[in-house]
Amino acid sequence: MDAPTFPERDVRYLDWFSREELVELHGHNERRRPESIVDVDYVVKRTDFSAEVPERFDLVVANHVLEHVADPITWLQQAAAVAAEGGVLFLSLPDRRFTFDYIRPESTFVDLLRAHEQRLERADFHQVLSALLYHRPVRAPDFWDGHPEELEKKLSNRRFSVPEAIERAKSISRRYSGVHCHVFTRDSFERTIAELEESRLVPWRLGEIDEVADGNNEFHVLLRTPDQASPGAVGKA
Ligand SMILES: C[S@@+](CC[C@H](N)C(=O)[O-])C[C@H]1O[C@@H](n2cnc3c(N)ncnc32)[C@H](O)[C@@H]1O
Repeated sequence: MDAPTFPERDVRYLDWFSREELVELHGHNERRRPESIVDVDYVVKRTDFSAEVPERFDLVVANHVLEHVADPITWLQQAAAVAAEGGVLFLSLPDRRFTFDYIRPESTFVDLLRAHEQRLERADFHQVLSALLYHRPVRAPDFWDGHPEELEKKLSNRRFSVPEAIERAKSISRRYSGVHCHVFTRDSFERTIAELEESRLVPWRLGEIDEVADGNNEFHVLLRTPDQASPGAVGKA
């Protein structure tokens, strides 16, 4: 959004929101630089976004996006539809062990399947409720800087009572919200991708996945199409 991975390259940007909308949504966030938010080439407010993208890409990058997507199975299918033959998908994802989702239950393949069967277009009531109820005011440095009492205090500091969270979730889920719809750790994502592969619901296979680097809160994933992931299969027939 405000820190493109390849600013000087031949790149197209796709988002649910236009640059103007992103500035309005994130301009007040002190960790964002609104003046650096990129122009969005494809503003697509639909889950089957490939229908509006006539180009095909060797590399599809989605940094801190998939956790915001209500139905990741559809999103992964759509990402495959905009990838060129042999294209790869690079994801950065927050690991809940180092974020405000620390105490939030991890999403499983079953949660993703349910969201897919419901064809969710935005965070539903239960996803928003989970995001509100299990949010804790902690960030990566709280986990790496070694002040256990401070960390413990923050982890016991919930924002909303259950009735408050339910009321807010009802209202927030009526429109698109920027909440995390899904929550992963590096290991839970590796397992989930393996289960997605096995289900044959998504045409991606795990290429590489790294560990969360010291001081950080994210891990990185490279997904490939099946022939690339198992080169031995090429020409076998
Ligand atoms: C946390 S921001 C990350 C932005 C940028 N990749 C970065 O690293 O700064 C998540 C972005 O994904 C977009 N987004 C979330 N769900 C989306 C969807 N289903 N389709 C397209 N964009 C989506 C949001 O509008 C937002 O700009």
